[in-house]
Amino acid sequence: MGATARAQPNIALIKYWGKRDSERNLPAVGSISITLDDLYTETSVDLDGDLDRDRLSVNGAERPDLLPRVAACLDTVLGTDRPRCKVSSRSNFPLAAGLASSASSFAALVVAATAARGLQRTTAKLAALAGRASGSAARSLYGGFVELRNGADGVVVESILDGDAWPLRVIAAITEPEAKLVGSGEAMEISRKTSPFYSRWVEEQPMDLATARDAIAERDFGMLASIAEHNCLKMHSVMWASRPPVVYWNSATLDCLQTVRELQSEGVAVFFTIDAGPQVKAVCLPGDEPRVVEALSQLAGVHAVHSSAIGRGAALVSCE
Ligand code: PMV
Repeated sequence: MGATARAQPNIALIKYWGKRDSERNLPAVGSISITLDDLYTETSVDLDGDLDRDRLSVNGAERPDLLPRVAACLDTVLGTDRPRCKVSSRSNFPLAAGLASSASSFAALVVAATAARGLQRTTAKLAALAGRASGSAARSLYGGFVELRNGADGVVVESILDGDAWPLRVIAAITEPEAKLVGSGEAMEISRKTSPFYSRWVEEQPMDLATARDAIAERDFGMLASIAEHNCLKMHSVMWASRPPVVYWNSATLDCLQTVRELQSEGVAVFFTIDAGPQVKAVCLPGDEPRVVEALSQLAGVHAVHSSAIGRGAALVSCE
């Protein structure tokens, strides 16, 4: 029995940073994201009772180092009495470098494993399962503009606007192709325990969520740009003030920010956001995409740019 699923990473406009329950991996704050279209992870899960242990290959290479987290996710999805699994995953973008590869990877894994076992589950249930492995993965089950809310007993995720209803473009500027040194889970805990700004961050999040929700409902690009940049810089300020400090940026990250600022002053409808890595994502209106791509590509520290539309949520590709 086997199945293959595809999921896209999502980029948070209002960020998740910090856990209220690390055992169940529940976020301390709600978040709003957009699911991408052109970047994706495709994952196959084969249930094989004859295997002596689980196997994992990522982009064609065996990755025993990543297996414990994948096996834990499979235990959550299929139960600890599940058969051994052979998992192979491929992504068309750099992994563990702040492009939300854990979101697309775990969303695809949960959908593929569920189908391989012949189980029927709602998208809400699949999202909750993906969120156990990676908080942001819960959002990749849905397409378009997605909100994750904290419910009394877990997370509630929903699409708040279709991607076609406001077809923004996302340009990811890769300033460092190698994997990051500190994972987001570990960094969040450092922030929660040591950053003097952490409690204020949690306190202000409902306000930022409400502003972003309004901006999306009204398709108000300026309002969305302003709140998304503010929320992103606040999250990184929480990290920078942690002990030890968590600094994901490099000098090219800052050059990208400066370039986005210059484009804004020339009247280009664009804003930046940065996750747990040095890459910069520029969000813009479709007509401004060529200028944004050109400006970011020209920077010396930018290795590549990936453009993407807003896309659909995770989906099953095949099932045998
Ligand atoms: O889902 P995780 O554990 O990889 O954390 C994601 C955290 C950020 O990307 C920085 C913010 C977010 O909401 O995606």
